[in-house]
Amino acid sequence: MLASLIYRSQIIENVDKEMIMEVVKNANHRNKKREISGLLFFDAPFFFQVLEGPQESIKALYRKILQDPRHSNVVLLVDETIKARQYPNLGMHFLDIEKIKSIDLSLAEYREKNHLNPANNNFDSKIEKFICQFIEYKYKSNLRHAIANGLKQFSYPVIQEHSNCTAEPPNGYVFAFQSVIDCRQRKTVFVEALARGPDGQGAKEYLSSMSQAEFAHYDMHSTEDAISLAAQLGIEKLSVNFSPNTIFQSIDTVDKLGAMLERYGFNPNQLVVEITESDFIGNHHLAPNIIAKLRASGVELAVDDFGAGYAGLSLLAQFQPDILKIDSGLIGSISSSGPKQSIVRAIHDCADSLAISVVAEGVEHEKDFQYLTSIGISQFQGHLFHTPKLNSYTAHQW
Ligand SMILES: Cc1cc2nc3c(=O)[nH]c(=O)nc-3n(C[C@H](O)[C@H](O)[C@H](O)COP(=O)(O)O)c2cc1C
Repeated sequence: MLASLIYRSQIIENVDKEMIMEVVKNANHRNKKREISGLLFFDAPFFFQVLEGPQESIKALYRKILQDPRHSNVVLLVDETIKARQYPNLGMHFLDIEKIKSIDLSLAEYREKNHLNPANNNFDSKIEKFICQFIEYKYKSNLRHAIANGLKQFSYPVIQEHSNCTAEPPNGYVFAFQSVIDCRQRKTVFVEALARGPDGQGAKEYLSSMSQAEFAHYDMHSTEDAISLAAQLGIEKLSVNFSPNTIFQSIDTVDKLGAMLERYGFNPNQLVVEITESDFIGNHHLAPNIIAKLRASGVELAVDDFGAGYAGLSLLAQFQPDILKIDSGLIGSISSSGPKQSIVRAIHDCADSLAISVVAEGVEHEKDFQYLTSIGISQFQGHLFHTPKLNSYTAHQW
């Protein structure tokens, strides 16, 4: 089976042109032996490579390329099987954009002259679109870095271990607390109460072991525990998760929630209610009224796990929450995934133009954090910043 693979990367500082030419010479020889055809574009400091050939050979080569110390920030853009090669010339063809510009040739003229055009002169293909994008990429990425540097949003806080305090839930339901931080404003925006089983099990495992009746009881009474714990731990703004069956069941829920907040000394604007994307889609006829009443009371609404459900951007056409939490599935390893980068940028742009705050959930790695800040995301949640602990909270030091 034939495969096509495209990635972009960034050259390491001390690698010079001579070294690149050495890579190209060896690669040309090896690719021919393995029946791989390849185009390598270089627009300092970025590489962009198109590889076509037998699937197994392409896979093996990409594993080596990923480990090559002469470049970094390797981002996979396309990895798929193809019917026929678009670039039939085996080997490795190097296109140095700066050099081509300096000899006063357009890229199109250079390709034509050097027989580097696609088969049948098909310039409408996906690969050709990616090539056009790469030509603009340097300009765009310089712009993004300028914006990110201008915002000075690259640092995040450390945990203040000595500030750790622990509390007791009144109904015995256990929670772990995790901050959502804003690196631009350098503050904690709110703290999420994450459901845990009595022995610290994850929410999924614990909640799925309950009967329907047990779950209904849990959903009502555990919220009181989350609020009580937050009050004892000195948390200023709290977010809680609700199942749609509880929150959208009756309009009275909003009054009950308000009374509960008052009992523990909170104002409604100190609460964020999180509902998952897929739960918004359910057929709850009271949902619009309840959402309107919650908002009128001052409670903020967040769509949780956005990108993991089925509604996608069409949900935002019907309803604009205050906060959009992008699902960790789209955030993990974003620094090396072209498709994830494009999707998250689109979600962020869309939310931005609707004045909805965006939180990147499940951030675990420094590289992903750096990428997310470079596209202008400033609110984060994840183990990189905060490991949640049972019934306790540890503040941050900026
Ligand atoms: C930007 C870039 C592109 C590369 N492209 C190829 C290529 O097309 N074919 C190839 O054999 N090696 C290529 N290499 C080199 C490989 O990463 C690796 O060094 C080479 O396959 C030799 O691996 P080995 O010494 O472990 O056999 C490239 C390296 C870089 C930095």
